[in-house]
Amino acid sequence: MEDIIDKLYNEHALTAEEYRSLLLCQDAEANAYLQQKAQQTTLARFGNAVFIRGLIEISNRCRNNCLYCGIRKSNTMVSRYSLSRETILSCCREGYALGFRTFVLQGGEDVSQTDDWITETVTCIRQEFPDCAITLSLGEKPKEAYQRFFNAGANRYLLRHETFNEKHYGNLHPSEMNQAHRLQCLQWLKDIGYQTGTGIMVGSPGQTIDHLVEDLLFIERFQPQMIGIGPFIPHADTPFADEPAGSIELTLKLLSIFRLMHPSALIPATTALASLSPDGRERGILAGANVVMPNLSPSSVREKYTLYNHKAAFGSEAAEGLQLLVKQLNGIGYQISYLRGDYN
Ligand code: 5AD
Repeated sequence: MEDIIDKLYNEHALTAEEYRSLLLCQDAEANAYLQQKAQQTTLARFGNAVFIRGLIEISNRCRNNCLYCGIRKSNTMVSRYSLSRETILSCCREGYALGFRTFVLQGGEDVSQTDDWITETVTCIRQEFPDCAITLSLGEKPKEAYQRFFNAGANRYLLRHETFNEKHYGNLHPSEMNQAHRLQCLQWLKDIGYQTGTGIMVGSPGQTIDHLVEDLLFIERFQPQMIGIGPFIPHADTPFADEPAGSIELTLKLLSIFRLMHPSALIPATTALASLSPDGRERGILAGANVVMPNLSPSSVREKYTLYNHKAAFGSEAAEGLQLLVKQLNGIGYQISYLRGDYN
């Protein structure tokens, strides 16, 4: 197994069979070796500094009905909100004062936040914060809309493919959605010039090791600049309420594989990881993550943006969350980088 890990470390690619055996490997020493090589790769490239991205959850309205997601359209238990442009700008101001130089606008596919509205919002942020990166995570849009957001000043876009396998994708999503269109959106984003992020949920219902191998091969080909990976966590008011959560160990293992596959990728230690384990963030960083996305959303809406239950909250205020992060990072010998942290 160490030979396979060394090959991934040196060549950044494996065969499907090799990925498969790595994922199935239960040998503790081999898994520790994988993690050690991933951490070594991250340290060589980024040092002990972790980039921060201020996450602003701009809307929990969504026209989609993804079976895993707590803000799916047919969940009537959700109290819905959409942030105003002025509220979003004040979140950015607060974040900027704390040292954030990337703002991530994430939300459901909210039809009330039209393409015009999003374009204008990006324009305002770009004007007021010329030195900041603007990341959007707003789902599937027409190519022209992605282009307009980009022209207005957005730099990065996050859109997980969730699972590469078409049939599995179909089991996680309503019939109006399909994997081919998701991949089309990702290609548009890349072609337009966004730093593009994709990724998966680990342990989503029906996922097999072979599906994960397909995900690895897709990401190896697509070469996203950012890779988001977190465990699936059930939400009580979804069809997947009684499904088990994904495994932390498997999530960390995949994270390490992605790091070795793509040494310069921006890989967050996700909130989902932190939600399953109190030291999930630290474990993510030690497995090769180099990004954390603290929450800048107004406290009043935070509990309404519930994609899954038991979501970790690091204090109710942005400043509090940042202080805690500094402590967590210091505890493992790391620190925050306040740079914009573009992909290069
Ligand atoms: N568990 C874990 N992650 C989830 N997401 C959505 N619902 C869940 C869940 N129940 C993730 C998806 C989406 C991202 C914004 O949140 O991967 O792309």
